[in-house]
Amino acid sequence: MGIKINVERTSAPKEKPEISQLGFGKFFTDHMFIMDYDSGEGWHHPRIVPYQQILMDPAAKVFHYGQTVFEGMKAYKTPDGRILMFRPYKNLQRLNRSNTRLSIPSLDEGLVMEALKQLIKVDEDWIPSELGTSLYIRPFVIATQATLGVSPSEKYHFMIILSPVGSYYEEGINPVSIYVESEYVRAVTGGVGNAKTGGNYAAGLKAQQEATEKGYSQVLWLDGVHRKYIEEVGSMNVFFKIGNKVVTPALNGSILEGVTRDSVIRVLRHWNIEVEEKTISIDELVAAYRSGTLEEAFGTGTAAVISPIGELNWQGDKLSLNGGRTGPLASKVYDFLTGVQRGTVEDPFGWIEKV
Ligand code: COI
Repeated sequence: MGIKINVERTSAPKEKPEISQLGFGKFFTDHMFIMDYDSGEGWHHPRIVPYQQILMDPAAKVFHYGQTVFEGMKAYKTPDGRILMFRPYKNLQRLNRSNTRLSIPSLDEGLVMEALKQLIKVDEDWIPSELGTSLYIRPFVIATQATLGVSPSEKYHFMIILSPVGSYYEEGINPVSIYVESEYVRAVTGGVGNAKTGGNYAAGLKAQQEATEKGYSQVLWLDGVHRKYIEEVGSMNVFFKIGNKVVTPALNGSILEGVTRDSVIRVLRHWNIEVEEKTISIDELVAAYRSGTLEEAFGTGTAAVISPIGELNWQGDKLSLNGGRTGPLASKVYDFLTGVQRGTVEDPFGWIEKV
């Protein structure tokens, strides 16, 4: 591609974890990518270096005002040893949409793609190939200018780190239980809910902590204005099978536009299953449950993949979905998507990018 990315290899490679130890985001590979931004020079000095700590000024704006964005992507090793990525350009486009919302200068998507491929190749021995595992990719930008005035930073780092992962949830592929949150809200339209920025996740921690204390894995957020329309779960978008239709909350500016969400909608339509993106209230969902038409619910996300929901707690009412077991639709979508991602199922959409 003609972009020169300097590569400095580690002289002290780390020991790799066992597959059984993986979990999510606990281990990091031997190298990382870093590139700097200064208002005079633009983005410059792209380089791959040994994974290491970074030195930051305590006044860096990211620490005080949260000017930061990130992405979540994955690379997969096929049973015959090829390395594949899933719809990476969609993530890079979203990264730049998040950048725009957070007043961060745009990144050259071609350069970032090249950086991703080179970094993954340098650390390819870290990519696990077992079913349910992958190499999680975390690109992110942080504002590094050391001034306390509230204004867009004039300096940034863009970095990519890699982590071999198994399942995001402790439940693995078993259904998770979800607490429908009625006190706290995550985001409002016009805010930053549809940008992938740290503050959205920090804002959700309190509710998440309280839900965990009650024995739930995650919270399901309702909208911040009416407190009744379903938005998303902490780390994933949500889908409900109601009768012979699948319903998912319409993108309204406060919901994250998930790449897996879009992929699931397209796969279901490809299978001639009706999918409706609409505003759906918690009352409507509970009514569907009571009438017996709410058959299945599942979450979608890069980290979460397809996560069946076995129970929803709404104000103390425990709604058990599909008898608390993984439903047939969630299983079918999971098998198809993970098959495409691992190169074992034909990709009819052209979603796979070879590394
Ligand atoms: C992802 O699915 O990649 C995410 O970014 C969710 C996450 C915060 C773990």
